[in-house]
Amino acid sequence: MADPTVKDRPAQWPSPWPYDFPVEGKVPAAPDKVARAVGAEPAPLKVTRRDAFGAAFLAWGAFLTAGGLGSLGLVRFLFPNVSFEPPQKFRCDVPTKFNRDSVDETWKTNGVWIVNTEGAIIAISTVCTHLGCTPNWLAAESKFKCPCHGSGYYMNGVNFEGPTPRPLERFRVYVDPADGFVWVDKTRKCQVEQGTCEASDFRIPVA
Ligand code: FES
Repeated sequence: MADPTVKDRPAQWPSPWPYDFPVEGKVPAAPDKVARAVGAEPAPLKVTRRDAFGAAFLAWGAFLTAGGLGSLGLVRFLFPNVSFEPPQKFRCDVPTKFNRDSVDETWKTNGVWIVNTEGAIIAISTVCTHLGCTPNWLAAESKFKCPCHGSGYYMNGVNFEGPTPRPLERFRVYVDPADGFVWVDKTRKCQVEQGTCEASDFRIPVA
């Protein structure tokens, strides 16, 4: 039978049909809607045992996953963040490798310049004594220059320009008789302005 169109509406109106007059291409309403429209009781929703177990399984899975992730977060707090800092004591090179009146930047990442000046090898801290930036060694000008506020230091770490109030600090430096190498010990430091850097622990005399 051909689909009825608007002009083919049945004589009886409103239509006795359970839903509005069909239009070409319209998807018929679901059976339960049809049932409701005609006043019949909708078919009862069927939930099988398998459906119930499946839903319970999913719910428990989500619950346990969330609980597991939360517990992992708690366990994470039991362990401190590990910071991979360079060692506080480290071996450098033999004393003869440090040329007179030179700055060796090999251990700058360890926070130290090894400097041979004024007849001794010293270990100068790379921390600016103004506000803690890291100065640069300007070989052409033979000085350390801080990029933050312009403090300047001579090769021996003594300040001469900019806002910094005092010289760069120095670390303990010594030759280990076991291997003949220069070692730096950052657990001990001295301050030039206090005269503590004159101690033999903070300088290796060189010819
Ligand atoms: S931190 Fe170096 S000059 Fe200010």
